[in-house]
Amino acid sequence: MTPRAPLLVLTLLISAVATATSIPRYREAPHFTNSAAAQCPPPVPSSDADAACSPHAAVHVAMTLDASYLRGTMAAVLSVLRHASCPESIFFHFVASSSSLSELRDTVRASFPSLAFRVYPFADEARVAGLISTSIRGALDRPLNYARSYLSSTLPACVRRVVYLDSDVILTDDVASLAATPLHGEDTAVAAPEYCGANFTAYFTPGFWASPALSKAAFAGRRPCYFNTGVMVLDLARWRRAGYAAQIEEWMELQKRLRIYELGSLPPFLLVFAGRIAAVDHRWNQHGLGGDNYRGLCRGLHAGAVSLLHWSGKGKPWDRLDAGRPCPLDAVWAKYDMLQPAAAIESS
Ligand SMILES: *[C@@H]1O[C@H](CO)[C@@H](O)[C@H](O)[C@H]1NC(C)=O
Repeated sequence: MTPRAPLLVLTLLISAVATATSIPRYREAPHFTNSAAAQCPPPVPSSDADAACSPHAAVHVAMTLDASYLRGTMAAVLSVLRHASCPESIFFHFVASSSSLSELRDTVRASFPSLAFRVYPFADEARVAGLISTSIRGALDRPLNYARSYLSSTLPACVRRVVYLDSDVILTDDVASLAATPLHGEDTAVAAPEYCGANFTAYFTPGFWASPALSKAAFAGRRPCYFNTGVMVLDLARWRRAGYAAQIEEWMELQKRLRIYELGSLPPFLLVFAGRIAAVDHRWNQHGLGGDNYRGLCRGLHAGAVSLLHWSGKGKPWDRLDAGRPCPLDAVWAKYDMLQPAAAIESS
């Protein structure tokens, strides 16, 4: 050993301890069982990561796992399980950075001992990092934000249909209904709530619209409408066949050279899919509850039914609750907060 070695060991120890304590301790969730009335398949084996291919996995859900949004993910998972008729027939696919994968996996396992899930390293992370151009909101530039574009290669080929969910959502309805959305047409690979009243022009730069070679060609033969990529049903088999991940990357390459949009991972999705998605009822994405991006104002629900609340936007309910300045709807999120004492969750 050289004289420096003890210091190195000490430094490694300190950083290991610092990493280990960066994830708070979460509560253990209750065990949710399949409803006898719902004609569920037998439970998916929760101890077997290969169970992703089990014929009993009736619904597949994909999310990212990330230390900074973990509190949101834990609450979202709890909400999915609580409102599912067949919670033991759901398989969760989590994508994480390889650096924190095992620690995050252990945290999920500790809180959901009987959850059927697998954690995948985000294999494309380094390449995506090189493709990302800086957007106006720094938080949108995390490579893991783009993991949703690579689910077709990340998840095993046996998984055909998956529900992708952002970490800042709460379901108040059965995810199986969302997963059962019809995707008619051999080319339809995405289903999501569409918003044809939103100003689609605003998502791209004037330079993009000024160039027919780009904008006319991009949307030839379709009527593009805005959709939010935080809640989607994806047909991964069609996605693989059409090579949509590569198409998204092509737009990201172009963006690095030409600046055709401002905001993170959403515009390349719109470029590839807007106007060719299957519609989902708006109840499945009551978005914008994060509030106004600039002044932090609270937002209310849109008119109509609610099956999923989405705190998209800058403000997150856990930050506002911790700061003692919650928006009214943050009380709904708090009912699923796994950092809170058991009584608060059990009784809701
Ligand atoms: C839509 O957005 C563009 C670009 O931001 C703007 O120029 C245009 O006035 C907007 N149109 C409507 C109807 O709001």
